[in-house]
Amino acid sequence: MNWGMKNRISRIIKPKSGRCVMLAVDHGYFQGPTTGLANLGKTVEPLLPYADALMITRGAIRNWIDPAVDIPIILRVSGGQSILKELSNEIITTNIEDAIRINASAITCSVYVGGEYEKETIDNLSKLVDEGEKYGIPVLAVTAVGKDMARDSRYLGLASRICVEIGAHIIKTYYTEEFEKVVEACGNVPVVIAGGKKLPEMEALQMSHDAISSGAVGVDMGRNIFQSDNPVGMIQAVRAIVHESKSVDEAYEIYEGSKK
Ligand code: 5RP
Repeated sequence: MNWGMKNRISRIIKPKSGRCVMLAVDHGYFQGPTTGLANLGKTVEPLLPYADALMITRGAIRNWIDPAVDIPIILRVSGGQSILKELSNEIITTNIEDAIRINASAITCSVYVGGEYEKETIDNLSKLVDEGEKYGIPVLAVTAVGKDMARDSRYLGLASRICVEIGAHIIKTYYTEEFEKVVEACGNVPVVIAGGKKLPEMEALQMSHDAISSGAVGVDMGRNIFQSDNPVGMIQAVRAIVHESKSVDEAYEIYEGSKK
């Protein structure tokens, strides 16, 4: 792995802890102005000091993020479908030149193993890895789950391993029972979990804790942070678990304690 690739990865996965808290706000590329992201800038601004990286599209970054911010960007470069149609029908929507112009620290697309357009999404990933390797930009593969896929360790292990084999540098998947099997399937490739649909804060914190305990290096969380009734408290609580190995109860106190 060349110096540039390593340097970009170390901006995201902090060398001190070997962990990361990514804030995901890229949902609009297929969900539109989802709850909490209509005014993306207003939602994100108070959270940025607590995020290690921001997962976002080029349109959102240009519209709502101050270029003076000092945060690594994980650029969502796939899309082409909406929630109204077949979610696996993704294409690459942003080329590597624009990712370099935006100074992205990583690029990301979704892979729908078992989905109607499984091959096309794996091909998207392979093209991004080829480009990323050329320019030293790591690729984060999101194992998106098709509508009727069971999110168990067998399926998520299959999907994550395929992304590893194609060459992804970071894997984002979903937490499941026996998650250690998913981590094992990824070998030395770091794994983060998505938060998924909004859960009660205690459950989301428990899931984060269990994922870290099972070998994940962190989270790439969106809705469970920005749709919380206390988003700043919630990202602070997630950080406490991820970077300080705090217990769920200690983290929950941080979330509760900072409620206005
Ligand atoms: C959408 C994504 C999101 O980045 C990912 O799902 C993380 O967000 P959340 O924690 O809200 O699930 O990849 O396809």
